Amino acid sequence: MRNFEYYCPTRLVFGEGRIAKLPDLIPSGCRSLMIVFGGGSVRKNGVYEQVKAAIGNIPHTEFWGIEPNPCVETIRRAVEQGKRASVDFVLAVGGGSVIDATKLIVAALCTDMDAWEIVLSKKAEQTKPFGTVLTVPATGSEMNSGAVISRADTKEKFAFSSAHPVFSILDPKVTYSLSSHQVACGLADAFVHVIEQYLTLCGESRVMDRFAEGVLSTVIEIAPSLVKRHDDYDLMCDYMVSATAALNGMIAWGVTQDWATHMIGHEITALSGLTHGASLVIVLPAMMRVLREQKRQKLLQYAERVWNLHVGTEDERIDRAIELTEDFFCSLGLPTRLEDAGIGREIEDEVVRRFRDRSVSFGEGRNVDADCCRVIFDCCR
Ligand code: NZQ
Ligand code: ZN
Repeated sequence: MRNFEYYCPTRLVFGEGRIAKLPDLIPSGCRSLMIVFGGGSVRKNGVYEQVKAAIGNIPHTEFWGIEPNPCVETIRRAVEQGKRASVDFVLAVGGGSVIDATKLIVAALCTDMDAWEIVLSKKAEQTKPFGTVLTVPATGSEMNSGAVISRADTKEKFAFSSAHPVFSILDPKVTYSLSSHQVACGLADAFVHVIEQYLTLCGESRVMDRFAEGVLSTVIEIAPSLVKRHDDYDLMCDYMVSATAALNGMIAWGVTQDWATHMIGHEITALSGLTHGASLVIVLPAMMRVLREQKRQKLLQYAERVWNLHVGTEDERIDRAIELTEDFFCSLGLPTRLEDAGIGREIEDEVVRRFRDRSVSFGEGRNVDADCCRVIFDCCR
């Protein structure tokens, strides 16, 4: 097991009706609160009313209009508004995009640096405190310090590290209004988060392996019912907890991580607008195929423990595990090939060009570079 350090100060407040707890969670000394929202889904599903009723007479302003794959251009406007109002606490009400945007807003409120410069610096020096009311189980942003921000004019998308939320409220009932496509993308994102921390080296941590396999098996088990109906409370609970557990850092203790699928997926989204989870399901099966020798031992463990494949040669079991992974994504209604998702060759070429220009290489072997990315793209068609 590798050395590790873990710190997660986020108070999770889980369950039906918990938005009403907001007044106990927002620090009592808060003089100016800013609430950050997306495009308006919370007005249709009752979340906005619940939040307003809970905060009562706490002085606050509202910022509306954070888009999916939040753009720095929008975030700059929120920062201006927050600075004018001398905001000392921010509440994000939405999915990963609203929460990620808030992670940049709270950093930019503390400095004169431009928000994009903060993203490029990779780590926020200082932040205002913030909390979240999560409405999409997917990213884990409600319990981690990472954020992914896009820039519309250059079609770039980069991750940076900010602060953890002070608290996050997870009420499974607020997710009933998600569409089947949103649930599918959320399940896929959570699944791939686990894979990024699991499908690397064997034998580093028995307990992390079992945690990861537990989350993967749960997602596979609940997905068929979840994509059909989203108003089953118990199923939504397991979905929500799985997504949070997939990226709150706990399954990463002492193990080698990958993240190459995400790095390619982020570029596809930045250039085409494809939803985050939908980009990952195209890249992951190809990544498994291209790196099958490097990942052989872990793929065999994955085949055995997640897909219950016990017979056949090693190569047959690996082939079948990759096939089942791709079938699983297809069963969510998500295309797993670039052409089926309408992604043209010009996007592939641009991603490869960017990786070459930036001289980057990703993955546990640091070998997913521009050339390897080209081979992976060939496998995604
Ligand atoms: O904007 P509104 O109107 O609220 O609509 C949103 C949005 O259109 C809608 N929505 C949210 N809650 C809803 C709802 N619709 C009906 N009912 C509800 N309860 O869903 C749409 C998508 O929301 P978004 O926040 O974009 O989804 P998600 O949570 O998947 O976040 C995706 C973003 O997070 C980043 C992604 O790259 C992407 O930018 N990620 C963040 C990570 C992190 N911070 O750790 C890690 C991830 O790997 C990921 O990269
Ligand atoms: Zn993700």
